[in-house]
Amino acid sequence: MSKQWWKNAIVYQVYPRSYQDSNNDGIGDLPGLTQRLPYIKKLGADVIWLNPIYKSPDKDNGYDISDYRNIQDAYGTMADFDKLLASAHHQDLKILMDLVVNHTSDQHDWFQQSRQSKDNPYSDYYIWRDPVDGHEPNNWGSYFSGSAWTFEPKRGQYYLHLFAPGQPDLNWENPKVRQEIWSLMRFWLDKRVDGFRMDVINLISKPAGLPDAPQAPGAPYGNVEPLVSDGPKLNDYLREMNDEVLSHYDVMTVGEMPGSTPEDAITYTGLEANELNMVFQFQHVSLSPNADPRLGKWNDAPVKLTELKSALSRWQKALDGKGWNSLYWNNHDQPRAVSRFGNDTPAYQELSAKMLGTTLHMLQGTPYVYEGEELGETNVHYTSLDQYEDLESLNAYRQNVEEEKIIDQPTMLKYLSHMSRDNARTPMQWDDSKNAGFSKGQPWFALNPNYTKINAAAEVDDDQSVFNYYRQLIALRHSSDLIVHGTYEELDADDEQVFAYKRHYQGQTLLVISNFTDQTVTRDYDQANASEKLIGNYADDQGTTLRPYESKVYLFK
Ligand code: GLC
Ligand code: CA
Repeated sequence: MSKQWWKNAIVYQVYPRSYQDSNNDGIGDLPGLTQRLPYIKKLGADVIWLNPIYKSPDKDNGYDISDYRNIQDAYGTMADFDKLLASAHHQDLKILMDLVVNHTSDQHDWFQQSRQSKDNPYSDYYIWRDPVDGHEPNNWGSYFSGSAWTFEPKRGQYYLHLFAPGQPDLNWENPKVRQEIWSLMRFWLDKRVDGFRMDVINLISKPAGLPDAPQAPGAPYGNVEPLVSDGPKLNDYLREMNDEVLSHYDVMTVGEMPGSTPEDAITYTGLEANELNMVFQFQHVSLSPNADPRLGKWNDAPVKLTELKSALSRWQKALDGKGWNSLYWNNHDQPRAVSRFGNDTPAYQELSAKMLGTTLHMLQGTPYVYEGEELGETNVHYTSLDQYEDLESLNAYRQNVEEEKIIDQPTMLKYLSHMSRDNARTPMQWDDSKNAGFSKGQPWFALNPNYTKINAAAEVDDDQSVFNYYRQLIALRHSSDLIVHGTYEELDADDEQVFAYKRHYQGQTLLVISNFTDQTVTRDYDQANASEKLIGNYADDQGTTLRPYESKVYLFK
């Protein structure tokens, strides 16, 4: 059991580029993060997940790694990293590194060699295929628009990249590739990092023969996810990783797993699995797909509460006692939680941020807080294309508006403003001074102008702030086995306004009630007879009355 400390832990995610700049070049860095550790400690987090900080051409902000054993210059040096880790450990904070090994950068030495010829020591490090009738080997579309194949004239072959052309997929079938990965993992673990968040780790085993993917009528490419997620050898690779590397260290592992089902997750994280500690799945953030299947995630449809509840409940029930899940509303790839699931207008931004925090932190799993979420940071509401930076957003615009002409410009801009990952990537809002205290230089990415109102300096000292509410949520969880381990009971699944559930553990019951609307509604869950109210986002309690975005938690003993 001692090895399961991560079940009680809260993870705080830092996007280093946007966290704190220490040398005023406009880019967040490791010394900047080190300065801010006391803030993260004050919130009560136990673990920091650091987005990639390795050497990278930065086509996808560090998710295209050219050297796994060195630090990107803009973030600092290895000495800065060692100081960060030592300082974190000194403050009893753990550090999870981002392990990006489905693909490397096309600038990585392995790929530079691999692309030269079909018979060098690195030829089989990537997934190469001959053209078929002078074209791509199959219909696979990349996650970042366009084909998932790029032609290399030197080899007369195509290479596979599920993401951008600058992110070629590694060939995990090659045992030498796996040895290289085990070795780079040991490099970081021997430095005493506390574990890994594994980027798209359920995509590493491709289906035999690379068959065509399902393609919506009129769509330029097939949708790869159903084909490439949770592939045939994934369990074998993860078990080998565990035998060779992870089992020799006491660390935490979380697998990012787009497209995984609870049944898949149990095979990775179950008691007998010996693969990973927990999954990071996407069902609850992949609801309301666009009515036009060619557009996938790009849409404008409000999420129906019943669908959201059903997705979360499904995972709660299926994994109970059998596996372990991550709990999150947003990260660096998702829009801001309060704008997406709450209400970011001034009247309700704080209330709904607290309501979302309550709803999530009382579930079973390990909660993740994405930088700025603890302040109730919102989407930026961009209106023009030149405000965007992220290649996923820019490529999708190019493909859907300019090349395929699937939708018009204003509609795509609206979709981007709601769904773009750039919403999460604006610099951290520390205070109301110029550039929000993020940098004294020109920030790499514009700030959300609402930093003058929503910022850490204002919230840390305010008892009623979102920050201090999150602190309470985290403290509650740290002190309650019921919250960590209790069994989940779904209440009124068809209620379109209120999300209510119970948790049961050793004769005690937790009741959580959250109003997801701006209306006052009435619900009676016998809260009048509770032993204690543990937390709520309004100062008083009006019993069965639930005011806009009201959320409250009761204990029954
Ligand atoms: C993951 C990362 C995302 C990145 C992609 C490719 O989904 O979270 O930011 O773009 O993988 O590495
Ligand atoms: Ca800097």
